[in-house]
Amino acid sequence: MTGAPITNEQTSFDVLIIGAGISGINAAYRLQEAFPNYRYAILEARDRIGGTWDLFRYPGIRSDSDLYTFGFSWYPWNRSNPIGEGQDILAYLQDAMTTHNISPHVQFHHRVLSVEWDQQTWTVNIQHDGSQFQYTAKFLIFGTGYYDHSEPLATTIPGIENFKGDVIHPQFWPEDFDYMNKNIVIIGSGATAVTLAPKLSEKADRVTMLQRSPTYLASLPNRHSGSWLSRILPTTINYYINRMKRLIIGHLMYAFCRAYPNAARGILEKGMLKQLPPGFPLNPHFKPRYNPWEQRLCVCPNGDFFAAIRSGKTHVVTDYIETVDSDGIQLKSGQRLTADTIVTATGLKWRFMGGIPITVNGEKIDISEKYMWNGFMMQDLPNAAVLVGYASLSWTLGADASMSSICRLIKLMNSKGYSVARPSLQDSSKLEPRPLLDLSSNYIKRAEGMPRAASLRPWIGRTGYFSDMWFAIFGNITKGLELSA
Ligand SMILES: Cc1cc2nc3c(=O)[nH]c(=O)nc-3n(C[C@H](O)[C@H](O)[C@H](O)COP(=O)(O)OP(=O)(O)OC[C@H]3O[C@@H](n4cnc5c(N)ncnc54)[C@H](O)[C@@H]3O)c2cc1C
Ligand SMILES: *[C@@H]1O[C@H](CO)[C@@H](O)[C@H](O)[C@H]1NC(C)=O
Ligand SMILES: *[C@@H]1O[C@H](CO)[C@@H](O)[C@H](O)[C@H]1NC(C)=O
Repeated sequence: MTGAPITNEQTSFDVLIIGAGISGINAAYRLQEAFPNYRYAILEARDRIGGTWDLFRYPGIRSDSDLYTFGFSWYPWNRSNPIGEGQDILAYLQDAMTTHNISPHVQFHHRVLSVEWDQQTWTVNIQHDGSQFQYTAKFLIFGTGYYDHSEPLATTIPGIENFKGDVIHPQFWPEDFDYMNKNIVIIGSGATAVTLAPKLSEKADRVTMLQRSPTYLASLPNRHSGSWLSRILPTTINYYINRMKRLIIGHLMYAFCRAYPNAARGILEKGMLKQLPPGFPLNPHFKPRYNPWEQRLCVCPNGDFFAAIRSGKTHVVTDYIETVDSDGIQLKSGQRLTADTIVTATGLKWRFMGGIPITVNGEKIDISEKYMWNGFMMQDLPNAAVLVGYASLSWTLGADASMSSICRLIKLMNSKGYSVARPSLQDSSKLEPRPLLDLSSNYIKRAEGMPRAASLRPWIGRTGYFSDMWFAIFGNITKGLELSA
């Protein structure tokens, strides 16, 4: 089960996967498991695998999902910490690829410039070491993630050009940046800011997290408590038990937060109060304006963020920036923060399907005009799938649920002699619009170029792992789909 071998001259494939991030690697495994004779390749623009986990290099970089569900179900995460550090995640991905002979299928420095569907075939235009050439494929899988790798979200910070110190965006953390004894202001309050603050505090003189509005922070122990059962069971079985446990707990927690927001708010606030120094009020720095899980919850492994606050080296300020000057930030409240380093943890810029221009039978496709089909194909895009995960659970669960459906669809096409499957929508006027993902975070709201989604199958975005897996196994996989020979 390793897929047909690749030769150097090969230019036509059964399937081309775009992106060697965690979604693309998982897609390769699922594909070669279901279709051992398929010719496939993974086209990766960068010179390394891992996507997100290779691109982001800031100190302390880690997942906020547990690796039992964020990792592959086919390759147990066997470390004792459920929340993985960036380097460990990369090593894990590499091991998984080597073990399953996926590595030979990856073609590095292969950037997909555009794709064209014509005469029942995809032509993929590729840039490689300064030259351009084409591959063809019967089916395309976009494992391109959801954000722009070359550009972070544009934010205007007034006066930032006058700042004399270093301004760093976490997406492009300078290697070997020495933050010893620095006075650092981190702008932002998301997962990145919350990860960076305690890590930088270890060496820096002072770290201030400057936020416009607070986020829910949940402290979780990051050590797997080995029960007597886990000591006698083999690693793989333990892994499945942990994975099931996390899946179900994650699902129930999310459902609970959405159904009983006040109770959930109470529990989260109590958790934060317990970790804060005695007498430290929740208001204003830890009192979010939204309900739990309307935006992604921030996890602090072993309460590291709160420990940094208790140590007196990390501070939180909730305020708006009036202007940045040569050595600090003037806030709207009148307060002033001095700094010699500013970290702009202000978010990612959304980009769907890698922003790759798509043409179908000579017509340019505008993704933002199209509806998603069952969360993994697009209206009017034949033989093309896109791996989108969940916002409220591990991303990879969604990417994997999609692969289950994709493999089922390709099997059905093969057995019935169809060569083209195209989601087709006659009348969209009765569809009720719904967001693609179920969170209200700014970066999702502000996202441009995102496809549409409605409230009923098949024209939906991501719903949830259990309903998507149910669909992958029992759902009507031909509804809204035009199949032809
Ligand atoms: C700091 C950080 C922490 C995160 N932590 C979590 C977490 O704990 N849990 C969670 O669920 N999610 C997390 N996420 C979201 C995370 O990005 C996804 O979960 C996951 O890593 C996405 O994997 P992916 O393979 O789909 O996309 P990516 O990791 O974005 O990889 C996409 C790949 O496609 C390649 N590519 C793109 N365009 C082209 C092209 N035109 N041609 C060729 N190749 C191309 C890119 O080079 C890249 O290698 C985090 C994100 C960040 C930034
Ligand atoms: C954990 O997995 C790695 C491969 O990723 C393997 O080399 C190692 O032996 C495993 N450790 C245990 C304790 O099973
Ligand atoms: C799936 O849906 C299509 C279109 O609505 C319908 O014709 C078909 O019978 C359904 N298939 C099954 C197995 O229910």
